[in-house]
Amino acid sequence: MPFSFFHLLFYITIIFSEVHAVHEQHFQHASKSESKSNVTLFVFGDSYVDTGNWRKSVGGSWKEPYGITFPGKPSGRFSDGRVLTDYIAMAAASYLGTRTPTAYQWRKGVKRSNLKYGMNFAYGGTGVLDTPVNQPNMTTQVDYFQRLIREKVYEKHDLNNSVAIVSVAGNDYAAYLARNTDDDLQANYSNASLKLPGFTKTIMKQLGINLERIQGLGVKRIAVTLIEPMGCVPVQAASSSYTNCSEVLNIGSKFHNQMLQQALKTLNDKTNSTVFVTLDLYNAFISALNKLTKRASASLGMKNPLKPCCEGKEKGNYCGSVDKSGTKQYSICENPDLSLFWDTVHPSQNGWRTIFSSLRSSLYKLIT
Ligand SMILES: *[C@@H]1O[C@H](CO)[C@@H](O)[C@H](O)[C@H]1NC(C)=O
Ligand SMILES: *[C@@H]1O[C@H](CO)[C@@H](O)[C@H](O)[C@H]1NC(C)=O
Ligand SMILES: *[C@@H]1O[C@H](CO)[C@@H](O)[C@H](O)[C@H]1NC(C)=O
Ligand SMILES: *[C@@H]1O[C@H](CO)[C@@H](O)[C@H](O)[C@H]1NC(C)=O
Ligand SMILES: *[C@@H]1O[C@H](CO)[C@@H](O)[C@H](O)[C@H]1NC(C)=O
Ligand SMILES: *[C@@H]1O[C@H](CO)[C@@H](O)[C@H](O)[C@H]1NC(C)=O
Ligand SMILES: *[C@@H]1O[C@H](CO)[C@@H](O)[C@H](O)[C@H]1NC(C)=O
Repeated sequence: MPFSFFHLLFYITIIFSEVHAVHEQHFQHASKSESKSNVTLFVFGDSYVDTGNWRKSVGGSWKEPYGITFPGKPSGRFSDGRVLTDYIAMAAASYLGTRTPTAYQWRKGVKRSNLKYGMNFAYGGTGVLDTPVNQPNMTTQVDYFQRLIREKVYEKHDLNNSVAIVSVAGNDYAAYLARNTDDDLQANYSNASLKLPGFTKTIMKQLGINLERIQGLGVKRIAVTLIEPMGCVPVQAASSSYTNCSEVLNIGSKFHNQMLQQALKTLNDKTNSTVFVTLDLYNAFISALNKLTKRASASLGMKNPLKPCCEGKEKGNYCGSVDKSGTKQYSICENPDLSLFWDTVHPSQNGWRTIFSSLRSSLYKLIT
């Protein structure tokens, strides 16, 4: 079932809910570092970094049990708690005075002074190219950013110490592969001269345009995520009862990452600079997986890290699904804080914390 992963990546973002909960949409990690200059963070991409841009009425990320670990209720994040953006902002805060940037969709409800920490334009389920979720693709996200600069919400001095985080976690592949067959996937991912790598090139071309625009708008450092090992995401590992990652998809990830690194080098060479850097999610995921596998074998309390914490009870259900009478059709593991994955495609807060520990040093390079 290699491409059910891709379906699901969208699927859980398109859960229609009637939640009318009224509560604060964003939270912050306070830091008072008066003497240091503050870095402004701008975030683009998908669910790995989205901190609440889906509308509450349509986003699965606004539905229980999302957010149960932190902040204790759904916050628009595709996890039980914090996501990559939060860990990046917290690490930056410890010595550069920043906070989790405001989600674009909530910009009008926050104090203007909070906007100086930056803004998050990422929407779960989106890609560099269009995907079926009908949310702003990356081009449109950059358009939003450009508009705010035109409106002088951000000015030259705000951009002077700015960092962009750009996440591309695989929704483009989801959209593409949903239109193609399983056997092709097997063949083409293992053979770099066939069509699928051609699709990777299409992604890279558009991504390069977006990245140059972000640079052109005045952002000083731009970190782009290398794609995670797509074959290790639980819905993929499910076909081996969570014992193995899908090698075929991991080859696809590696190919994507090679091309991305080339593209970033080309961009840096154009301006003889190191504006563009990578955040290596591939190796960070693998290392988190190894770490938690070791812990699992050493302790009876730990679970197999390829198994998601929150799962639908039956085929067709997913984390967060309820039936017509409102009865939960999903189960949650005993302790989400021991898991790597929260649902079938997204890391848990513990997962992100573990993954982030491998990214810390590249982040320091980025913001210093
Ligand atoms: C950085 O942010 C803190 C608040 O978090 C603020 O008190 C301080 O003045 C800011 N520093 C600069 C240089 O803007
Ligand atoms: C992104 O979305 C906009 C608005 O829907 C659309 O016009 C544009 O073609 C899309 N860009 C890409 C690269 O898919
Ligand atoms: C931007 O930073 C440079 C040094 O890093 C400084 O010389 C310049 O004045 C700053 N510009 C603005 C508009 O703050
Ligand atoms: C890859 O595809 C090319 C072009 O169709 C073909 O010539 C080559 O034999 C294939 N290689 C493998 C390892 O399948
Ligand atoms: C895989 O390659 C074959 C042969 O070139 C092509 O017909 C097919 O469309 C490709 N499939 C995908 C998913 O790229
Ligand atoms: C998992 O991978 C191992 C080693 O590559 C292999 O021996 C085993 O057959 C695989 N198991 C499944 C269920 O695919
Ligand atoms: C590129 O930058 C390096 C270090 O800043 C400098 O030594 C070199 O001359 C520059 N090359 C060009 C072509 O500008």
